[in-house]
Amino acid sequence: MKDYNTPRDASPDELLAGKARWLVPCSKHFYERPPHFVRGLMQYLWDSEGKRYLDFFSGVSVNSCGHCNPAIVEAAAAQMARLQHLSSIYLTAPAMELAERLAAIMPGGISRSFFCNSGSEANEGAFLAARLHTGNRRLLSIEGGLHGRTFLGMATTGIPMWRTDPFLPAIGEPGPDATVLPGIYDKASGRVTDENCARSIAAIGQAMSAGDAAAIIVEPIQGNGGIVPLPDNYLLELRRLASASGVLMIADEVQTGFGRSGSMFAVGQSGVEPDIVTVAKALGNGTPVAAYCATEAVASSFTRPSASTLGGNPVSAAAAIAVLDYIDAEGLVERAAALGARLESGLRELAARHPCLADVRGRGLMLGAELRKPDGSPDPEGADLVLEFAKDRGLIVGKNGLYRNVLAFQPPLVIVESDVDFALGVIEAALQTV
Ligand SMILES: Cc1ncc(COP(=O)(O)O)c(C=O)c1O
Repeated sequence: MKDYNTPRDASPDELLAGKARWLVPCSKHFYERPPHFVRGLMQYLWDSEGKRYLDFFSGVSVNSCGHCNPAIVEAAAAQMARLQHLSSIYLTAPAMELAERLAAIMPGGISRSFFCNSGSEANEGAFLAARLHTGNRRLLSIEGGLHGRTFLGMATTGIPMWRTDPFLPAIGEPGPDATVLPGIYDKASGRVTDENCARSIAAIGQAMSAGDAAAIIVEPIQGNGGIVPLPDNYLLELRRLASASGVLMIADEVQTGFGRSGSMFAVGQSGVEPDIVTVAKALGNGTPVAAYCATEAVASSFTRPSASTLGGNPVSAAAAIAVLDYIDAEGLVERAAALGARLESGLRELAARHPCLADVRGRGLMLGAELRKPDGSPDPEGADLVLEFAKDRGLIVGKNGLYRNVLAFQPPLVIVESDVDFALGVIEAALQTV
């Protein structure tokens, strides 16, 4: 059988030709000259030429415990060899253990889980639970958030490039299902401003007072929107407004969950207790597993049957339990806080020397650096140049933002201090070329 782990596999050009011929053309990729990755171990990746890369994007915030983490692979492989699948209509132990483990770490009184396979599905399930609980249809969200590729996920997404459904209204216009309200990021300056926070809160209060909303969904740190943390007082006020109007608050922790922000869940840093938390990505460290987790009160409204064929299957549940064990055993939440502080201060020093870095923001090991041109306009081309340069020097960083001009640093939480210093050195060299 072909060994897909052997370096010097298919060339990137062969894969690009296959992609152009066989995939739906919406499937884009990073880089002018993308490598073909053939192997991963902890914070490292290797391409088909045998070149090693330090990964500072973790497959979009997924591999928090590192690529092919041996402890997690072993747990998943052992479960796969023992009992791979039976669907949630039969009794199996791993999903039950996982649900109990999640209840122990969730904020506030959140104690009930529904398992599925992706972040989009988790949010979709959360929306259904909210509609069943409140009897209301409308979903509220804010500009800059991303909540999925399903129809409701897209309807609540506040980033134009990810609102692909041609029947969606413009951001700000109410649709039949959802209204995206003003966000907190100021497009002109590329920063979060107090004025925008106040405007957003006023719009949320007004929308909630209409009495037709089931829930408001927010990412505590907007990931795709350009690593934009929602300030604590903003989240507290949002919670207050939601409670006062009987609207549920959903924290989308798909990208922020499981230690990345320096707390187990980013929403916890504000002290806010949401009604529902959605999780995916890092929960499986690469195995597809996701969930929405709700308070007893919300969950008690969802008694009609619902099922996800592969949701909470024994293998993904075993992998997720191993992830939680590993985060705990290795102190990854504390590591994210400590190494994040080192990376953030390094990025701030770079910003002081390179005015093209207009803003540095984020929490823990979820940091963004916004690139702007000398005239203050967003610089997506500069971001592409930095990404390409860094990749050629053996460093993988991400990009996002409303203008695709924000460098995203979301490494596996298993990195060490010298990895941070290496990354900062490469970014400094890249900025000199931009
Ligand atoms: C915050 C957030 N929510 C939801 C999703 C959708 O998750 P998935 O791609 O697993 O469906 C994403 C994906 O990037 C995300 O970042």
